[in-house]
Amino acid sequence: MTQRILLIISGGIAAYKSLELVRLLRKRGIAVRAVLTESAKQFVTPLSLGVLTEDQVFDALFDLKAEREIGHIQLSRQADLVVVAPATANILARMANGIADDLATTLLLATDKPVLAVPAMNVRMWRHRATQRNLAQLRADGVHVMEPDAGEMACGEYGKGRMPEPAAIAAEIERLLTLPLPVAPLADPLTGQPDFAGDAGPLAGRHVLITAGPTHEPIDPVRYIANRSSGKQGFAIAAAAARAGARVTLVAGPVHLPTPAGVDRVDVETARDMLAAVEAALPADAAIMVAAVADWRTADAAGQKIKKDGSGQPAPLALVENPDILATIGHSDRRPPLLIGFAAETQKIAEHAQAKLAKKGADWIVANDVSGDVMGGDANAVQIVTAAGLESWPVLPKDQVAAKLIEKVANALAARTD
Ligand code: C5P
Repeated sequence: MTQRILLIISGGIAAYKSLELVRLLRKRGIAVRAVLTESAKQFVTPLSLGVLTEDQVFDALFDLKAEREIGHIQLSRQADLVVVAPATANILARMANGIADDLATTLLLATDKPVLAVPAMNVRMWRHRATQRNLAQLRADGVHVMEPDAGEMACGEYGKGRMPEPAAIAAEIERLLTLPLPVAPLADPLTGQPDFAGDAGPLAGRHVLITAGPTHEPIDPVRYIANRSSGKQGFAIAAAAARAGARVTLVAGPVHLPTPAGVDRVDVETARDMLAAVEAALPADAAIMVAAVADWRTADAAGQKIKKDGSGQPAPLALVENPDILATIGHSDRRPPLLIGFAAETQKIAEHAQAKLAKKGADWIVANDVSGDVMGGDANAVQIVTAAGLESWPVLPKDQVAAKLIEKVANALAARTD
């Protein structure tokens, strides 16, 4: 069956690259229907797009003829994937806030299909807090966002914000079209629960418990011990589990991430708090421990800020080991039927993960190589160690790792007979 893209072109100088994108998609046998915003028409013409797509080009919300022949709701749902390329700071802001004031944004609000945004803008606009806030919101809502390229900009400045090359966008589109799970945000806005439009979702009726982020172990009121962790991978897994219909409890260490739709979040600070929150959230059908728990805490956190005493010698720090949350749960009688740990390794990844299976009493260890740029980044290369052996996944964006992992969890739970 021919796959179909709804391509929304917003008004940036990079819009000219969208013509090449259409050509590449068509060459791959993908049908493209184009929508132009008012300002995009300053950069590309409906005529050139119409020729390349061999289809009608849509450019106005109240195009009565089009509304009679094809309503905007229908238009938003006939594609397999909605792509916004280039996505200007303005359209990203409108998408993040659910504003529907033209045809493009109305389609984006009405669609039930996955959405890929390909930002392109000046480096300062890209780095602006407002844009980054909007992007974080869009990601939390399940929108796929491609990272822009860095380089010289049309405006003469240098930095991140250039639209990726059409070949890279076409490759990303092809990849998203092959994804097995629903990747769109299907949360019912009234209940906050995922809405599978009549389909209950592969994890319906299941409780999935997830830990994410670091823990902070206070040294004194202003200092703490922690592992590096952005929480992004754990939050993406929580979002994917909710989209698959599970009831999700997310026990989160201190991170600055929005709560994914349909997820019950419990914020904690220390490892001991995290263990208590995890125990309180049991029973669960599956627990996925993604948190980077600090291995040690100070034997005694000081009540007042520790002052330098002028001797040049650092204050002595007595450390004690924190409880291992995964191992505690793994060896308890309230162990969930499926228990998954994560392992951040910099060398001998599979070997260390294998050893951890038994030590922690886990069913799977998801090992990731953190020798590169994984921490805080948006991509992850993981290997999954189970009793059955080792599975290696390619480098994937963290939300795709999450979707694949949740699919594997759903299959494993469905295969259980007890
Ligand atoms: O032993 P290591 O820290 O490499 O193990 C990582 C796995 O164990 C992760 O799943 C992590 O969430 C979990 N863990 C834990 N409590 C600790 C340390 C790690 O739950 N104190």
